[in-house]
Amino acid sequence: MSKILHRTLNSTLSVLSSGRGVWVTDNKGNSYLDASAGGVAVTCLGHGNDRVIAAIARQLNEVSYFHTSFFTSDVAEELAASLVAEAPGDLSQVVFSCGGSEAVEAALKLARQYWVEKGELGRTEVISRHQSYHGGTLGTLAVGGNIPRRETYSPLLFSAHFITPCYQYRLAEDGETEEEYGIRAAAELEGKILELGPERVAMFICEPVVGATLGCVPAAKGYLKEVRRICDAYGVVLIFDEVMCGAGRTGTYFSCEYDGVFPDIMAIAKGLGGGFQAIGATLVSEKIADAIQSGTGLLKHGFTYMGHNASCAAALEVFRIIHQDDLLSNVRARGHQLKSELERNFADHPHVGDIRGRGLFVGLELVADRKTKKCFSPTLKVNGSLKKRAFANGLLIYPNGGTVDGSQGDHVVFSPAYTVSEEEISQIVKRFSRSLDQVFHYI
Ligand SMILES: Cc1ncc(COP(=O)(O)O)c(C=O)c1O
Repeated sequence: MSKILHRTLNSTLSVLSSGRGVWVTDNKGNSYLDASAGGVAVTCLGHGNDRVIAAIARQLNEVSYFHTSFFTSDVAEELAASLVAEAPGDLSQVVFSCGGSEAVEAALKLARQYWVEKGELGRTEVISRHQSYHGGTLGTLAVGGNIPRRETYSPLLFSAHFITPCYQYRLAEDGETEEEYGIRAAAELEGKILELGPERVAMFICEPVVGATLGCVPAAKGYLKEVRRICDAYGVVLIFDEVMCGAGRTGTYFSCEYDGVFPDIMAIAKGLGGGFQAIGATLVSEKIADAIQSGTGLLKHGFTYMGHNASCAAALEVFRIIHQDDLLSNVRARGHQLKSELERNFADHPHVGDIRGRGLFVGLELVADRKTKKCFSPTLKVNGSLKKRAFANGLLIYPNGGTVDGSQGDHVVFSPAYTVSEEEISQIVKRFSRSLDQVFHYI
């Protein structure tokens, strides 16, 4: 029996032994087409990359580690400068960490430190959205709206406040345009700020494209602009969690570039290190950085492994490859192909309710009844069966349940590597289609 306390103790995991591009092979010789980028939108360059591996080795041969309160490193400075040069708005400085939860945790702490530096100690309240995920630490779970992931720990979590997500497929009214809906959805934020008292609200956090919890749901047109306007009106710090949707996944390096709306603080992770190393980054605007610089001059936050040289070397090389190989063009082209092929294949499918997303971050929501949008009973475990069927058909995708309210609803996330080819996209759709047919044959 494995000595690892695995995520699920009811089944045995296969052992993965090799990977190249969008293909991985287990130790029994089974090969899988990875339409998920390592399961959860991480391996953006695909599996295995000689340039990245060489960059890590080079760095480790020079110097592997020193605590960031003693020294900085060329590689961390260069990565931070590259991210800032690429960043929209006035995001101007970076705090590194070891992954998404740490990057969001740092974002929450930086927003609070900002208010302390400004002397507004009463700004303590955090607003987030239902059906969101911001990480697995107690701090990030407290601001996460993913009910199944929160519920065991809820007595230990600080009290955040939640508004409805921007979820056009289910929440827009008949006859409402996308923009009318977006502005109406954002108005709930203003209502919540006024209810709590603006002088008490420290920050609002959201995913510009909601990832695993809702299944690749981009904000409706106008929503983020209105959110920015409301935050500015009441001085609330705006945090974008782009851990899953950022770093090129949606076709622009930062997802919010598409909307032309920029936050005060932004967290990125998964595609930043591409799975070669564990790394996250929190970018802060001049306003936040200046308040700290002209205040205590001390970042009241830190982890032993923040800005690790090997992580920064990997992320810098991943960043360079994305740009030098113009991979974002491929993300946009292949993303368009993936969505079109899914739409064509499932145009009349009784159980495919919605296909959405941006770039190579595409979600498909499954319904019992396409007309009424009624969900399958969770007892049918549709998303779990689909994951198993796809696996048996040599396809790795990321299905999830609880799409609508933490319990009802099923969706699938497609997030292949940015290097995926036209032929591989067609293969993904073919294998998925076969898997879906098999699932519904048995329901
Ligand atoms: C939007 C979002 N934020 C934060 C996290 C947490 O990141 P990590 O699992 O790397 O700690 C995730 C992980 O899935 C995520 O999707």
